[in-house]
Amino acid sequence: MNNKFYITTPIYYVNEKPHVGGAYTTIAADVLARFHRMKGDQVFFLTGTDEHGEKIAISAEANHKTPKEWCDENSAKYEEAWDVLKISHDNFIRTTDSKHEKTVVKVLEQLFKKKLIYPGTYQGLYCIDCERYYTPKELVDGKCPFHHHDLVTLSEDCYFFKLSAFQDILLKLISSNEFLIEPQERKNEILGFLKSEKLEDLAVSRKKVKWGIEFPFDKEQTIYVWVDALFNYLSGIDWDGDIKKLPKFWPPEVQLIGKDILRFHAVMWPALLLALELPLPKKLFAHGFFTVNGQKMSKSLGTGVNPEELAVTFGADSLRWLLLSLFPFGQDGDLSESRLYDKYNSDLSNGLGNLVRRVLTLAQDGSEFASSKIINVEFKEKIDSVWQKYEKALDGLHFETAIAQINDLIFFCDKYINQEEPWKLSKTDPDKLKNVLYNLLESLRHLSCLTWPFMPDKSNLILESLGILSQEHKKNLSEIKKFGEEKFEKVSQGKVLFPKIESVE
Ligand code: MSP
Repeated sequence: MNNKFYITTPIYYVNEKPHVGGAYTTIAADVLARFHRMKGDQVFFLTGTDEHGEKIAISAEANHKTPKEWCDENSAKYEEAWDVLKISHDNFIRTTDSKHEKTVVKVLEQLFKKKLIYPGTYQGLYCIDCERYYTPKELVDGKCPFHHHDLVTLSEDCYFFKLSAFQDILLKLISSNEFLIEPQERKNEILGFLKSEKLEDLAVSRKKVKWGIEFPFDKEQTIYVWVDALFNYLSGIDWDGDIKKLPKFWPPEVQLIGKDILRFHAVMWPALLLALELPLPKKLFAHGFFTVNGQKMSKSLGTGVNPEELAVTFGADSLRWLLLSLFPFGQDGDLSESRLYDKYNSDLSNGLGNLVRRVLTLAQDGSEFASSKIINVEFKEKIDSVWQKYEKALDGLHFETAIAQINDLIFFCDKYINQEEPWKLSKTDPDKLKNVLYNLLESLRHLSCLTWPFMPDKSNLILESLGILSQEHKKNLSEIKKFGEEKFEKVSQGKVLFPKIESVE
C-alpha cells in the first residue's frame, strides 16, 4: 500500500520578489517530495502566494495598479522562479483564489457558532511590515525585532479568537510529540514560551485593512491576514470548510517553515485547528536562517538575493544541491559566494562530474558490460549502507547528511578506480576489466538515483548515458536499490555534466 505524503511550504508574500530564503524552503520541500515519489508514496506538495494585507495595497497604489493586478503580476514571478528551480508542486495556491476565500469565511462562521470568536477592542503596537501586533516584551530597543523601525499604536474594534483557551492542550500535545516540532531547539523555544507567558486572545479582524477577505458578520472589517494565510494549507487541497468532509491528504506529514514564522505555525495554527476539531499536522520543521556573504538577508529590507540569477551562474540542479549542502538544515548558516563556487567545483565538477566522465570514457562500448558474473561484495555492501544512511537522513530532513553519503560513494568509486587501474587491465586481464567496469557503471546508476531528488535533470543525463533512462524510471525503490541486476548495453559518453566555473570575484 502506498503511503500518503502531504508536504507544505509557507506561502510567500506576493509583495516581494522571490528571494533565496524562500527558494531554500521550497527546494528542500521539493527534494522531500521527489524522494517520497521515488519511494512510491502518494505525494501532494503545496506551495503558493500570500496576497492580502495593507502592505500589498500600498505597494499596488505606488505602482499604479489595483491590488489584484499587483498580486497577479507578482504571484506569476513566483511561479516562474519555481519553474526555473524545477519545483514539482502539485498545487500553487493563491489566497486571492475565490475558493480559498470562501473556505476561510466558512471557517470563521463555524468558530463564531462555537462561540470561539467574540467582539472587543484591541490596542497594541503594530508593525506594518510584519502585519502583526507585538507585545512590549518582544520589541528590541523599543523597535520591531525584524525591521528595526518604530511601531504604531493602534486601537480598533475587532473580533477576537479565544486563543487563551488552548494553552494547556498545546503544551500537552507539543511536549508529548503528538504535535511534533523539530529541531529540538525550536520545540524547546515554543514550550518555553507556552510555559512562561499567558496566551492572549487573538485579534482576527482588522478595520483599517481594506485589502483582505471580508469578515463574515461585520462588513467594516477584514479577516486578519495570518488567519487567512494559514488556511491555505487546507484550501490548497480542496477543502471547502466542511469539517465532516476532510480531504484525503489531511493532515500534512511535514510542514516546512523558516524559524521566523514558528509561533504562527506552532501556536496560532494548531489552536485554530483544535478549535475546529481537526487533526493537527504530524510534524512542523523550522529551518534556520542564512546570511549572505555575512550580511543579514531580509527581503523586505531589499537585500534579498535573486535565486534565478544564482541558477544562471550554477545551473538550477547544481544550485539545489549547493543550497542544501552548505550547512545542516535546522541551523543558521552563511551563504557566501566563494563557498558556493568551492562546493560546486569540489562536489560537482571534480566529484560527481569527473567520476561520470572517467567511467564512461573507460566503458566506451557498453555491450561488453551487459552483465557481470562476479558481484563485488565490498561494492554491494557499500551501496547498501549508503542507501540506508541516505534514506534515514532524508526521513529526518538531514539533507546535508544525505548529500555527504552521495559524496562518500563518489570517493569510494574514485579510490577503486585508482586501485584497480582499469586502463592497464585491457592487456593484462580483460575479464577483470569487465567486472571492474561493471561495478563502476552499476555505481553510476545508483549515484544517478541517489541524486535524482536533488538534481533531477543531471540524474536523467547520467541515466541516458548509461542507456537506461526510461526503464529506471519504471522501477520502484526496492528494485532501484538492488546491486548487479542491471544490464548496460548502450553506454555513451554524453556531455560534460558540470563544467568548471571560475569565481568572478
Ligand atoms: N507569507 C508568510 C508565510 C505565511 S504561511 C501561512 C511569510 N512569507 S515570506 O515570503 O516572508 O517568507 C517565506 C519563507 O521564507 C519563510 O519560511 C521564511 O522563514 C523564509 N525565509 C525568509 N528569509 C530567509 C532567510 N534569510 N533564510 C532562510 N529562510 C528565510 O512569512
